[in-house]
Amino acid sequence: MTTTLRNKNIGVRRKISRFLSWNLLFVSTKNTRIFFTCITFLSLTSCSRQDSSLPGGTTPFRFEQPSGWPQPEFNFQANPLTVEGVELGRRLFYDGQLSKDGNFPCASCHQQFAAFATFDHNLSHGVENQFTTRNAPGMFNLAWHKEFHWDGGINHLEVQPLAPITALNEMGETMPSVISKISADSSYRMQFKKAFGNEAVTTANMMKALSQFMAAMVSANSKYDKVQRGQASFTTKEQLGYEIFKSKCASCHTEPLFTDLSYRNNGLSLDASLDDKGRMRITNLSSDSLKFKVPSLRNIMLTFPYMHDGRFNSPLQVLDHYSGGINKSATLDPLLQNGIPLTLAEKFNLMDFFYTLTDSTFIKDERFAAPR
Ligand code: HEC
Ligand code: HEC
Repeated sequence: MTTTLRNKNIGVRRKISRFLSWNLLFVSTKNTRIFFTCITFLSLTSCSRQDSSLPGGTTPFRFEQPSGWPQPEFNFQANPLTVEGVELGRRLFYDGQLSKDGNFPCASCHQQFAAFATFDHNLSHGVENQFTTRNAPGMFNLAWHKEFHWDGGINHLEVQPLAPITALNEMGETMPSVISKISADSSYRMQFKKAFGNEAVTTANMMKALSQFMAAMVSANSKYDKVQRGQASFTTKEQLGYEIFKSKCASCHTEPLFTDLSYRNNGLSLDASLDDKGRMRITNLSSDSLKFKVPSLRNIMLTFPYMHDGRFNSPLQVLDHYSGGINKSATLDPLLQNGIPLTLAEKFNLMDFFYTLTDSTFIKDERFAAPR
């Protein structure tokens, strides 16, 4: 039973990613991204907004690009962030109507106080008492990501929400049904008009609003960031932890995002009941077996449990894994062939450093909180 559902769920994601890769084959123009967005929503929008001018009457949302960070991947030209669009995205993100039984908004699995991961759950609850097959990752700085999900199976933020909405073990809905519920509400129609100049509730505009909301979520105000900006300083232990981090972890968990966004096998043994081969599900290459997207370590003290299946409950367990629990297999990352030797003192220093990665401004930011 669960296997069938899981397969269906994977099927949906594969379909979306196949659809997108098919589209990508035809993309070779200079205006790649704009062209791509236009095809994605071919039947729903026109390409008339290829320039960056905002929809009439909207206010630009101030996207904060932290200094020294790389250029974001998010296409601000094709989907400019506006205060109205982000606000609509927020309402949708917290709205149970996007799920079949009304109880599972995006926010039920992505909780702000947990940096938008699922608090204290290895797998998350979805409709009809089902569970997801992976741990919900924290959500922040997604504007810098090119691909989404642990296996990178989704390569555009504007289609990502279709996956959870339609997955039978997550929100279990269909887009026509969601659209009919949302458009029955005149206050929603007014918000669509404010954000996009048209009160019609369309899949394209819903996806745009949700992705504006997600792209707006920048987390860059932890103690670590303040130290980088010269506004704070590390304690001796935090500094020791940072040095260990830079020499032993940063080649994959690269600053400033604390991920290099690559897919790697970090030596976890395969959980036979989940049988999750990670990136290989998408590429079908055995060389990608057991590789998963390197997660960011920002807000790491808030996003437990850890790893794609939430198998570790504490950072200490994670560090024990790196120092003594690496499972050797053909695709194990070369950097981890001998594990990462760490003394107990080094582990505690690393954890002191982890605390400096918590961004309490972000988890309390009213702009991302449930609308009142
Ligand atoms: C039932 C729980 C659940 C619900 C509801 C849910 N998600 Fe998720 N979300 C997950 C899980 C689990 C993953 C990891 C999936 C994977 O890697 O295959 C995830 C992954 C993501 C990611 C990828 C993050 C990354 O770092 O790659 C985004 C973005 C996201 N969800 C947004 C949403 C949005 C938007 C909604 C509502 C439309 C939503 N989610 C609803 C559980 C949920
Ligand atoms: C070879 C690349 C690589 C190195 C080196 C590495 N990691 Fe990781 N790390 C990963 C990958 C890949 C994952 C996700 C694996 C999965 O879930 O299957 C991960 C996951 C984690 C997680 C779980 C995060 C979450 O949100 O679930 C933590 C914590 C972590 N690593 C800490 C560290 C620390 C600390 C070091 C150094 C001692 C380190 N890593 C070194 C690749 C690496």
